[in-house]
Amino acid sequence: MPIMEPYRIKVVEPIPITTPEQRRRAMERAGYNQFNLSADEVTIDLLTDSGTNAVSAAQLAAGIDGDETYAGSRSWHRFRQAVGDLMNYEHILPAHQGRAAERILFTALLKPGQMSVSNTHFDTTRANVALLGCEPRDLPCREAADLDSPAPFKGNIDLDALREVLSGPERERVGLVLMTVTNNGGGGQPVSMANLIATRELCRQFGVPLFLDAARFAENAWLVTQREEGYRDHTPRQVAQAMFALADGCVASLKKDGIAHIGAVLAFNDDRLADICQLHVIASEGFLTYGGMTGRDLDMLAQGLAEVTDPLYLRARASMTEYLAEVVDAAGVTIVRPPGIHALYLNAGRLLPHLRPDQFPGHGLACELYLQGGIRCAELGSLYLAEIDDDGTVRNSPPHELVRLAVPRRVYTQTHLEYVGEVLAKIAKHPERVPGYRLTKNPQVLRPFHCRLEPITS
Ligand code: F0G
Repeated sequence: MPIMEPYRIKVVEPIPITTPEQRRRAMERAGYNQFNLSADEVTIDLLTDSGTNAVSAAQLAAGIDGDETYAGSRSWHRFRQAVGDLMNYEHILPAHQGRAAERILFTALLKPGQMSVSNTHFDTTRANVALLGCEPRDLPCREAADLDSPAPFKGNIDLDALREVLSGPERERVGLVLMTVTNNGGGGQPVSMANLIATRELCRQFGVPLFLDAARFAENAWLVTQREEGYRDHTPRQVAQAMFALADGCVASLKKDGIAHIGAVLAFNDDRLADICQLHVIASEGFLTYGGMTGRDLDMLAQGLAEVTDPLYLRARASMTEYLAEVVDAAGVTIVRPPGIHALYLNAGRLLPHLRPDQFPGHGLACELYLQGGIRCAELGSLYLAEIDDDGTVRNSPPHELVRLAVPRRVYTQTHLEYVGEVLAKIAKHPERVPGYRLTKNPQVLRPFHCRLEPITS
């Protein structure tokens, strides 16, 4: 079905069209690490949907009206009102991006040795928990393990496992339960209201605070209106408000569903927590009425937060990803089913059975997408998630070798996605030709961002 975007294009930006030879040289220079590529070398950039959004004319206009007053700017009040309309929390604190908000929350909430329990922690979230000497524990629901299952809410937390942790001897170690909506680390799958309500009950029963990692709250809300009985007549905004009302607070990177380029919010009701978090915001982010953002950012976000729950916008965005799923399927490549909204996750392990985890099939597919079509995306497999010794021995590979194609908001058209499908189809015709890779530089910390590799040619 054709996608009917509820907007037209007023300003355009050329995208680089490169030759195979230019791409080969670019990848050699980059040590076959897509993070080392320059924008000028990338034709379709599906590395992330974070901060890569196209803003509306109304957002730009709002930005021009941005008030750069240090304390108590008009932009802050407009931002606070827009956030407050979605989430009825007493304390709303700004931060420059999601991971800063996470760090501040965890610093205030967790003591060394405690744990954060989640459906799945996003990487930075996991890192921020671990950096405090705490344990990030993921309890994804069972359906999540079956990539092919069409279950509608594979982002859910495993309620039995959660009850077991909360009712057992580990209860004292649990500092918070963090529900990531949608579940980015778990294939971009949504969380149902039923799961959230049951989690709320367990948290209340055992006296543990429940927070949302609400980076993609509007996309989760949309999928609830589409997939969950009892919510079909709700607007996405009503569902979002109901989601926030179930939790004690949230951290939200606004680089996603704020449809802007930077920003985050940390919000909750607890006054004691507010005292500590406010200190940390001032000490490391900026005063409490800007938190590392400019007045322009605050105003663009206030407008973005009004636009993001528009059902017409969300329908078009969801159908974009569904369309991409169709072209990928037609290309003969399997994905984590069912498609979510912000990204598709390709099953590289299945497409490239000739490559062992220590030859990084996901990375092989991601490199091939660039070499053949100038498409940039991210591996989510052994290169990212396994432990790799200095001598290159790969341990504890994840169960699946995936590649994430993230779709920036309002940036690409259906034709661009058709092109991605064509390039994938070309690769999928001769998957055996895709080489494996070996590491030539293997940093032990934050490996994906600055490792270097080379193709295995023999
Ligand atoms: N939580 C989730 C669920 C995220 O997806 C991200 C970022 C963050 C927190 C951190 O927010 O980037 O503003 O500091 N995800 C990006 C991605 C980077 O590509 O998925 P941030």
